Amino acid sequence: MPHITTSALLASPRSYLLDSATRYGLISRTLHWLTAAIVLLQFSVVLAWRGYGETSFTLTLSNIGPHGSLGVLLLLITLLRAGWAFLNRQQRPSPAAGLRGALAHTVHLTFYALLIALPTLAILRQYGRGGALDVYGLPLFNAAEREIPWMINIANLVHSPLAWLLLALGIGHVAMALMHHFGFKDKMLSRMAEPINRY
Ligand code: HEM
Ligand code: HEM
Repeated sequence: MPHITTSALLASPRSYLLDSATRYGLISRTLHWLTAAIVLLQFSVVLAWRGYGETSFTLTLSNIGPHGSLGVLLLLITLLRAGWAFLNRQQRPSPAAGLRGALAHTVHLTFYALLIALPTLAILRQYGRGGALDVYGLPLFNAAEREIPWMINIANLVHSPLAWLLLALGIGHVAMALMHHFGFKDKMLSRMAEPINRY
């Protein structure tokens, strides 16, 4: 029978969780695909309301994905993701060389920045105008007599343009992932999507 040390047993599940130079680990992947699903739901709800107005369909969508709750969840997940990316910074797939790699890296950093700035400024606006905010019924703050103009003005100015910028970059990001997979036929998509081997 092969000799298995305790440290080897402990190291094994750990190596599935962590990133490596050739692929993302389970935690990075879970946070990435959770983000993708919530962003997709967020924009589907907004676009459905724009297209159909108040109907039983759009009301159901808003119950599944209330705008403020999804935004707060995205903020929390992105802060976790940024922390996890920092902890794994020495052992992650590195961006491709050249202009294309630099562009992809810049887009990834912009995602982090947008997914933090968008909800943070919107939460400040909601607070500043005396509104209530909850996450799926869990109250973050209650409505109150309040009016703090700077909190309201920043989000009024940037929330909508930054949100559409996020959507545009997201569409470009998905298009590039598909292009790598089906066009260039390289391993880019597989490091975020294929079954994880340990190294
Ligand atoms: C990453 C998170 C978020 C995304 C992607 C997002 C996306 C969007 C989009 C696409 C719109 C429609 C803009 C338009 O019609 O031109 C919108 C509007 C709005 N969002 Fe968000 N949102 C996020 C977080 C939040 C949060 C956390 C709140 C509340 C605390 C919030 C409150 C609002 C409000 C009140 C509007 C309508 C007024 C406006 O356009 O500024 N959003 N959001
Ligand atoms: C179906 C949708 C999506 C697909 C197929 C996809 C695919 C990928 C792939 C293959 C990577 C790895 C890239 C590399 O190793 O160079 C990646 C990374 C990344 N994706 Fe996506 N993605 C999707 C949606 C999203 C969305 C909606 C967001 C955020 C708005 C997002 C944000 C990111 C970020 C920030 C990274 C860099 C990860 C890191 O280094 O921390 N992705 N995506």
